[in-house]
Amino acid sequence: MDYAVTREQALARISAAQDLGALEALRVEFLGKQGSISGLLKTLGAMSAEERQTTGPLIHALREGVTEALATRKAALEGAALDARLASETIDLTLPAPAAPRGSIHPVSQVMDELAEIFADMGFAVATGPEIEDDWHNFTALNIPESHPARAMHDTFYFPDKDAEGRDILLRTHTSPVQIRAMLQQGAPIRIIAPGRVYRSDSDATHTPMFHQVEGLVIDKGIHLGHLKWTLETFLKAFFERDDIVLRLRPSYFPFTEPSVEVDVGFAIVGGKRVLGGSGDAPGHGWMELLGSGMVNRKVIAAGGLDPDEWQGFAFGAGIDRLAMLKYGMDDLRAFFDGDVRWNAHYGFNPNDVPTLSGGVGTTA
Ligand code: PHE
Repeated sequence: MDYAVTREQALARISAAQDLGALEALRVEFLGKQGSISGLLKTLGAMSAEERQTTGPLIHALREGVTEALATRKAALEGAALDARLASETIDLTLPAPAAPRGSIHPVSQVMDELAEIFADMGFAVATGPEIEDDWHNFTALNIPESHPARAMHDTFYFPDKDAEGRDILLRTHTSPVQIRAMLQQGAPIRIIAPGRVYRSDSDATHTPMFHQVEGLVIDKGIHLGHLKWTLETFLKAFFERDDIVLRLRPSYFPFTEPSVEVDVGFAIVGGKRVLGGSGDAPGHGWMELLGSGMVNRKVIAAGGLDPDEWQGFAFGAGIDRLAMLKYGMDDLRAFFDGDVRWNAHYGFNPNDVPTLSGGVGTTA
């Protein structure tokens, strides 16, 4: 057998292989288990020692030559396949970028950002307090003693245990305990808002067991109701982005303010919907209750460690969810907390739109 001829023929067929499939078929034909060259190798065993000495190297050389030729051809075919793909696949960089999936800012977060922006402009800092409170901060220090009916009215969620000082632990029912914490921590004067979650055992279309409030507190010398009215008017005009917001201050009662003032805002009925603005006394208009406020009770100032003869102040508390519903037109509070991505996408805000007084506090949904 002329191994040189066998080799020539094999190499010619390998270099003629047009694709990787054909090349693989040749590899099997020559070197596979039943392959022709594998068959030649098996004949070595039956040979005499002499014959094996001359023929063995020839067969091994044949196998090596074929193996090498297969590898060379394989690399060449793969290179050609890559070149062909690179030539056929192109990206048109002048096309607009595809829409990237994006999250959105929840209306509650949006309104909190708007509040921070509006009040920062009036010199207020943002304060926070714990959602797990004790009954002294949530009630007693705010002039709501143990027997006070307001404790029952608040539908409080209590924890089974007491804290180290023997106080009942609860989920705060309002943001007002932050008033106490701010006074104890920073002393006077104070100008803060405190937005956050609050909890009451209550549930229907306008009440959820968890909701959001913003507390406002100013403590300084010579503070009076006029400052409260101006601050709320300035805030509400900026928030609703209307100059014709009209407030009505009604006498009310909160244990932690004296006097206490309920604040109503005038609205008109336009196309069956309530639109804020104008006096509620005008024909076709009405008043809606918006927030509670008042001059901080002397007892509360004392509980905050300050001398009520030296320091006075006002406080207010408003529902953030309600402010969001009024401004952005949702009518069911429960949907706020369902986490439905369609609701979030519809009512949510672009994360790149940061509310600013110069750019508008949240007009672009
Ligand atoms: N904490 C009161 C509430 O939750 C609101 C309020 C705050 C009233 C501050 C007066 C002053 O209803």
